[in-house]
Amino acid sequence: MADPRFLQRAPGRAAARARWAFLGALAVAGFCSLAAADPPLTGPSGSYIPRLGDIMEVTQLRHIKLWYAGADQNWPLAGYELNQIKDSFEDAMVLYPGLPASNMTTMAGPAAAIDAAIKAKDRDAFARAFNQMTAACNLCHQAQGYGSILIKVPNSSPFSDEQFPPKGGAKP
Ligand code: HEC
Repeated sequence: MADPRFLQRAPGRAAARARWAFLGALAVAGFCSLAAADPPLTGPSGSYIPRLGDIMEVTQLRHIKLWYAGADQNWPLAGYELNQIKDSFEDAMVLYPGLPASNMTTMAGPAAAIDAAIKAKDRDAFARAFNQMTAACNLCHQAQGYGSILIKVPNSSPFSDEQFPPKGGAKP
């Protein structure tokens, strides 16, 4: 079993976590809930609280970037995108405590497998782990009543302004 605390990585995140925890507490106190209708999400000081759907939308884009980084063997970029995804889920867990942690932690195994594949620079293992992560995205969507949001491995990139193969070509 992978470490369910996979979401906690950089020590520098502690301050950010504290900030989000504060905002999360406000959210719990009644500014929003998973079931609420959609007023603008702000704290008393007007600070912005991202909606869960918006956190997810960003995650979707990074899911695509992660795929192309791995497929093109740009391992530093793949590691970066994986960490971005972890950070987004960390925020989601703090801001939306109504999300079952068990569904979040189903991401832990696939994330650890992707991390290992990146470190080993193993494209096939990366592809297998990426499929597992994608399945974990959909498991939670189904469990949360959003089964119609069906994530899959991308077959084209919308990012024409970013290069995915590493400069100078892949170095296996
Ligand atoms: C722990 C549960 C959970 C996990 C894990 C999860 N999601 Fe979601 N996702 C949700 C919920 C709940 C919503 C609906 C949010 C809303 O709009 O209120 C959602 C919505 C979405 C949406 C729709 C956003 C939009 O505006 O169209 C996308 C895209 C998405 N998720 C992508 C992903 C991807 C990619 C992953 C995996 C890398 C993932 N999700 C993992 C719970 C989860």
